[in-house]
Amino acid sequence: MDLHILDHRLRVLSISKKGLVNFTHPLIKLIFLRNQLQPSEHLNVESSVWLPLNVVSNGNASSSSQAVGVTKIAKSVIAPLAQQHVSVFMLSTYQTDFILVREKDLSVVIGTLEEEFNIYREVAGESVPVLCQDVSNGLQKNGKEATQPTVHPVLIPQNQFCVMSLDPDTLPSIATTLIDVLFYSNGPEEDAQSSPSRIKFFSFSLIDGYISLVMDTEAQRQFPADLLFTSSSGELWRMVRIGGQPLGFDECGIVAQISQPLADSDISAYYISTFSFDHALVPEEDIVSVTEMLQHQRKEPAAS
Ligand code: ARG
Repeated sequence: MDLHILDHRLRVLSISKKGLVNFTHPLIKLIFLRNQLQPSEHLNVESSVWLPLNVVSNGNASSSSQAVGVTKIAKSVIAPLAQQHVSVFMLSTYQTDFILVREKDLSVVIGTLEEEFNIYREVAGESVPVLCQDVSNGLQKNGKEATQPTVHPVLIPQNQFCVMSLDPDTLPSIATTLIDVLFYSNGPEEDAQSSPSRIKFFSFSLIDGYISLVMDTEAQRQFPADLLFTSSSGELWRMVRIGGQPLGFDECGIVAQISQPLADSDISAYYISTFSFDHALVPEEDIVSVTEMLQHQRKEPAAS
């Protein structure tokens, strides 16, 4: 298996709801024309630079698993990084899963994953093999961490989600709907606290020319049905939102804690970190067993 360190240096930021109106124009330009955001009081920018990693299986891996998403990399990438106390930021898309790591953690990341993967660094469109480096003294070989991982509260809203894609050439035909959903669909302010049954979540990503959309069935109805496509099975997903308070960026092991048991049960999952919370999407038919698993985890947080 190959691991690619992509040629992007990323920042994670959030825009306050109140400030969104100031960003409608820059964000539209960002989506459709790819420009940059200017600093502003409405932008909350996390200070680190993050690098996206991407696992490419070269086809010969005799994997018996049909699972997709973060489940496939739970044991090979997510768990080892958590053991080394590397904080990650996950972005699953329709096409693939990106694992963002802090640039300053890169040598630990390479040291941790070089046994399992051929690692390449993408530089100006070329994949350059990363040579083994001796970082072993920085690694905690005996990964038994002294600290118990924090078990965060979860929220399981009722919405059904779909994970979809779109031919970039047809992006203009959904532009008005997209703009509408992103900027003008706020309606009367529902507060999540009193009505946790539905959650407002919409994700649009355009990464290296590939578009990925995650939306609930209600938002989906606003889009022309013939342009967005999903996998042939057209499955629906349920969401587990992780975190009661904003999770921050320093804690590690949150993704691992959720993706490990999913991998053990071979349950597919997309995993999307946002500025405040993490979101796992699991197949609708698995939500009961996932809920049980999460309850179990929360009843016995001390068990290891
Ligand atoms: N850093 C966490 C981990 O390593 C995941 C990201 C949580 N933070 C966030 N803002 N979504 O598991």
